[in-house]
Amino acid sequence: MLTVRGLTKSYATADGSFQALKGIDFEIPAGGFYTLLGESGCGKSTTLRCVAGLEEPDGGSISIGGEVVTDTARGLHAPAFERDIGLVFQSYAIWPHMDVFANVAYPLKVARPRLGAPEIKARVLEALRLVGMEDFAGRQATKLSGGQQQRVAFARALVRRPKLLLLDEPLSNLDAKLREQMRFELQELIRRTGVTTLYVTHDQSEALAMSDTVAVMSAGRIVQSGAPREVYGQPDNRTVAHFLGSANFLRGRVIEAGDGLATVVLAEGAVEIRVPSRVALSAGAAVDVIFRPEDVTTHLDPAGGAIECSVERVVFQGGMSEYQLRLGSTLLRTVVHPSVSAQPGDRAWIAIRPERCILFAAG
Ligand SMILES: Nc1ncnc2c1ncn2[C@@H]1O[C@H](COP(=O)(O)OP(=O)(O)OP(=O)(O)O)[C@@H](O)[C@H]1O
Ligand SMILES: [Mg+2]
Repeated sequence: MLTVRGLTKSYATADGSFQALKGIDFEIPAGGFYTLLGESGCGKSTTLRCVAGLEEPDGGSISIGGEVVTDTARGLHAPAFERDIGLVFQSYAIWPHMDVFANVAYPLKVARPRLGAPEIKARVLEALRLVGMEDFAGRQATKLSGGQQQRVAFARALVRRPKLLLLDEPLSNLDAKLREQMRFELQELIRRTGVTTLYVTHDQSEALAMSDTVAVMSAGRIVQSGAPREVYGQPDNRTVAHFLGSANFLRGRVIEAGDGLATVVLAEGAVEIRVPSRVALSAGAAVDVIFRPEDVTTHLDPAGGAIECSVERVVFQGGMSEYQLRLGSTLLRTVVHPSVSAQPGDRAWIAIRPERCILFAAG
């Protein structure tokens, strides 16, 4: 439904130019939910704005539903209003001087060919029903809560039944609780309408929870894409491992490798573990062993694990506590049930689940 090929884009700056996109390629199948995730400034919004027709790329092509809307080689750049898309941004951008009905009806009123008033009314009410706002049709748009305003923005984006829905951080203006609730609502809404979705966020939990495919961007490139579990569990490089959730790094040395497994002795703690290895490694190689906080069990007695640490910090977070543990010169993060109560300075013993470790050649 969406194909993006070789997208490049530079912006003029005071001292020359800055290349925001360095060659972006991806596609989204019909009904797919594809998320661009990455740190601030990596080029997520620029990519989405090129797809929307709000920004003209320097190179590359874009097609929506089989129709080529951008092709820089042919000088083709269809304006946003000619693209079959719905758009929602972080700021609700609903029009304060109109009521809810008029806000949602607007895209239909400017659409060509013209629709009759009864058809417009039916479509607006259908879109409002989709987002649970049919009782608010006559309400002034400014007299709505943040979450309600964003629901109106979703209704307005969907009212033309676009082939492609483009969402740029649509939930980040909402408070934490509402954001989580709207995450499920939005997901359900998208599932019901079956609309193909390109979603932009820097919130990794949002990306993991909602998407079919997550593409991690860094400095104008997609560095890895795949199903959320795959990208989280099998990061291809350190950038991805760091960006998606918190990752612990321990330096180690390979003592034996083969058949997709390596035996590694961890430099700190002199403990041997046997871990999956996707890269070719030979005995003696220095490696970084990467593992997630949830893949470590933390105990306050020596029987609990082979690696001895000291508790540096305990951060109570309600449903769980996060521990920072010192192992030699390294700080590790682990998650612990809140009923366990350790104090900074206590000894702790950890066990790492070897099958969940990821190895990278030391760098
Ligand atoms: N109009 C512009 N003129 C110059 N530079 C720009 C312009 N728009 C964006 N940039 C730069 O291009 C880079 C990519 O910007 P973009 O808005 O795509 O980032 P982003 O990934 O969406 O970040 P965020 O998460 O902060 O929204 C940034 O370094 C930004 O400063
Ligand atoms: Mg952005």
